[in-house]
Amino acid sequence: MSELNNIVLKILSSGKGILAADESTATMTKRLNAVNVESTSENRLLFRETLFSSENMKKCIGGVILYDETIKQTGSTKKTIPELISSSGAVPGIKVDTGAKVLAGSPDEKITEGLDGLRERLKDYYKFGARFTKWRAVYIISNKYPSRLSIYSNAHALARYSSLVQESGMVPIVEPEVLMDGTHTAEDCLNKTSEIIKKCFDELIQHKVDLTGIILKPNMILPGSSSDKKIKNEEVAKLTLKCIKESVPKEVPGITFLSGGQTEVEATENLNLINQFNDTNFIMSYSYGRALQQSAIKFWSKDIKNIKGTQKIFNHRAEMCSLAAQGKWSKKLEEN
Ligand code: 13P
Repeated sequence: MSELNNIVLKILSSGKGILAADESTATMTKRLNAVNVESTSENRLLFRETLFSSENMKKCIGGVILYDETIKQTGSTKKTIPELISSSGAVPGIKVDTGAKVLAGSPDEKITEGLDGLRERLKDYYKFGARFTKWRAVYIISNKYPSRLSIYSNAHALARYSSLVQESGMVPIVEPEVLMDGTHTAEDCLNKTSEIIKKCFDELIQHKVDLTGIILKPNMILPGSSSDKKIKNEEVAKLTLKCIKESVPKEVPGITFLSGGQTEVEATENLNLINQFNDTNFIMSYSYGRALQQSAIKFWSKDIKNIKGTQKIFNHRAEMCSLAAQGKWSKKLEEN
């Protein structure tokens, strides 16, 4: 088994998943301002260190995606943040794209940037302790989108990124995120997401990426957030599995879903059903940002010194997600 495949299995073994704590400073400022906390580098570190030193990191979190600022910070115990994460048994990861910018030729859509100088930046991140990375492409659905241009150009960038990351000895998370915004149906989401993922794999193969050493991070199959055609969670899980089966090559070891604006419980329940119905060999787990942090940040904002109370909330959320990654979650556990 390759070293990269070992890293994937370390991150996703025994019901573990990924904590996506890689919000850019601008996004983190939005999150903190929403709960009336000033977005200073100290406060961003304090919240994140609180999560990373929680008890259930050991049992439930196999990898943490960091932002450039955080990977270089040192926590209150004098350990660097990657050291703190590693000491809980999790693998430190890093977001390496530089954001989604207006796509020339189709200005309603976005292309993710960050390839220039990436090889050198990867070397630095490896020295800081990162062993996996993330690059997020975003797509919108409407009657004319996503365009072929956005599907092709984002797939190409994801593949160039992935091959550079593997060359540097790290595992790339390949994240093609179809946004939930819009009035489209779940069927539209299924068709577009499958087309996008298939194109990503065409390009990954073209760029000689070792598919046993990547993690795919897709959206679940949902109707648009403004659609009047809502569907049951069971249907979400079945359509999501259909999408994965028709678009992901069998060599890929693990899939970690993003939460993408679902509530914490929705994202947990849907993942649980996906695992209950899972008749593939793919590990199906989570790489949640908001669905792991939302309640914790709300609680923390009321008293940022209440480390234990904040950790209790995070521990619960992480435990629920980990149970869902094994198909062992049930709604009544949410009340404990
Ligand atoms: P959400 O789970 O909040 O969608 O964030 C995951 C992520 O990393 C998006 O890039």
